[in-house]
Amino acid sequence: MSEKVFYITTPIYYVNDVPHIGHAYTTVACDAMARFKRMMGFDVKFLTGTDEHGQKIQAKALEKNITPQQLVDEIHLNFKKLWQTLNISNDDFIRTTEPRHIKAVQNIFKKLLDQGDIYKGTYSGYYCVPCETYVPESSMKENKTCPECGRPLILMQEESYFFKCSKYVQDLINYYEKNLKAVMPKIRYNEIMSFLKSGVRDQSVSRTSLKWGIPVPGDENHVIYVWFDALINYIAALGYPDNLEEFKKFWPHVRHIVGKDIIRFHCVTWPLMLLALGFNLPVEVVAHGWWTSEGEKMSKTLGNVVDPFEMVNNYGLDPFRYFLLREIPFGNDGNFSELALVNKINSDLANDLGNLLNRTLQMINNYKNGIVPECNNPKSDLSELAELTIKNADEAMNNYNFDEALKFIWEFIRRANKFIDEYSPWKLAKDPEQSEKLNFVLVNLYEALKFSALLIAPFMPDTAKRIYNQLGINCEPVKELYKNFKWGVSSGNKINKSEVLFPRIDVEEWRKNKNKMSEEQEIKQENKIIEHEAEINIEDFRKIEMRVAEIIKCEEIKKSKKLYKLELNLGFETRTVCSGIKAFFTPEELTGKRVILVTNLAPAKLCGVESNGMILAATVKNEGNTEQLTLITPEKDIPLGSRVS
Ligand code: MSP
Repeated sequence: MSEKVFYITTPIYYVNDVPHIGHAYTTVACDAMARFKRMMGFDVKFLTGTDEHGQKIQAKALEKNITPQQLVDEIHLNFKKLWQTLNISNDDFIRTTEPRHIKAVQNIFKKLLDQGDIYKGTYSGYYCVPCETYVPESSMKENKTCPECGRPLILMQEESYFFKCSKYVQDLINYYEKNLKAVMPKIRYNEIMSFLKSGVRDQSVSRTSLKWGIPVPGDENHVIYVWFDALINYIAALGYPDNLEEFKKFWPHVRHIVGKDIIRFHCVTWPLMLLALGFNLPVEVVAHGWWTSEGEKMSKTLGNVVDPFEMVNNYGLDPFRYFLLREIPFGNDGNFSELALVNKINSDLANDLGNLLNRTLQMINNYKNGIVPECNNPKSDLSELAELTIKNADEAMNNYNFDEALKFIWEFIRRANKFIDEYSPWKLAKDPEQSEKLNFVLVNLYEALKFSALLIAPFMPDTAKRIYNQLGINCEPVKELYKNFKWGVSSGNKINKSEVLFPRIDVEEWRKNKNKMSEEQEIKQENKIIEHEAEINIEDFRKIEMRVAEIIKCEEIKKSKKLYKLELNLGFETRTVCSGIKAFFTPEELTGKRVILVTNLAPAKLCGVESNGMILAATVKNEGNTEQLTLITPEKDIPLGSRVS
């Protein structure tokens, strides 16, 4: 058995989320790391899965009139499909509704209860339903909203079991003081240390207000808090508690890769649970930054979610994987730009890598009938750089600097391209006295490509395979070990037909198509504003906050045929609202008008302007299909901000 063992996990994904590039990012990074470590000779286990309990699932199932189990059985497949599409090489996929997980969670709960580390009490606090989290009053935003998602918090009081985690905080601080890389990057390490040092209170770990969860053993009025439940997946997947073989082998080598938003659960709650259980603490927890889109947090309401399926469909899988890991340093936030992706495809993939392959294969074809020639001493500065590159890439990967590892690899690829220019093989080919030198150059280029395929294999497995195919090598690069690579042992290999790896994208053409598409989308969005709403019940209706407001300013939105940008005075604040009423009023007609404004509508970006509400209007189609519209205004003079009910 190999001595090098590596266990790597992604967080398990909320099954009710629509997978977006944020999700793709964590898992693609984990996948590249798992593949790299395998090629480094490690015995790797790579885990991902879905988080399937909680309030949101319960509510959604009720709405659809199916059981929560039916719902999660259906929708966890979205993630499975995404991992297949992204060529993720996970060794296991765990669902928190599986018996193996439920058993592990109940076993751990009972163990901690029996040893006095879980006790019963009463909990009261502000709770965010979408985030399934109690929010301390010190972290709440204005109007008692959630600091993470901005939605209103609910005051809850319930009998609850508590985890006596405060008991283990000092042990955890001691561990982190000795293990400076246990939380990465440094900024997150500091964040966690100062959080721990500021004092951690015992945590509530059960709910009575919820049914869809794992029951507390022996007290079925309670279900186990979804985070306490979910974190245990990492050891449930190793067979705990029934079969400890894998657990013993892999657990001491575990690395968690997570987004920075869930670092406290992974670097505080989870290690405190592990300390109470007497298990090893994770070797490393690595937090990556967040992808934004159009400069904002991705959300369905803003309509700016970047769909990974669409990206793969439009640009190809490996370019997308390459871009995610190359574009921004792993710990940093980054704004997703399709144009940046297009530029990377053209420069790094088509130009650097694609050209190296095509030029080399062409020369081997033209000068050597497609057969790699003999060369007595193939060592060169390129072979030296190859050795250095894998060392550098390894070091970068050990620090989770995916972008740096790729930079080193690309320096090597660019050096190989330069090698062609320096030796000008086309000149050597004309001079029979230079035939040995020509062989030396061609062998070096062939080896450089072979080695490049190995280097890129963890990041772009398909491309590596395509390069191997064209080089006439009949095996899968991802299954090779770096240590077995030898420079200059390929003489006699017969290359295959050269094919373009990455077609260049015409940026002008691409821009035109993009503009056309966004115009179409804009029209669709505009139409939505005045479309008929779906039927709602009285509870839903009461949730709508409407107030009297005065239009104090009306501006044109140049890009839009339908929208005005309105400024409305509510007495206690002013709001910007985009309204699709341009065809019916001039700005002068609107300024000074009193209207009814829906004030708690989630913000939406329309033609680049954030709209915070909607004014009420009635419409009717006239003969000839023309539309008539009238604003709903208060019948009497009533103070601005008055509530409409
Ligand atoms: N279910 C919890 C994790 C439980 S682990 C025991 C959860 N799920 S999640 O689906 O919301 O997030 C999964 C991962 O995707 C997290 O690492 C999160 O940080 C990451 N991302 C979600 N949106 C993201 C971006 N916009 N950008 C980068 N990654 C983000 O949290």
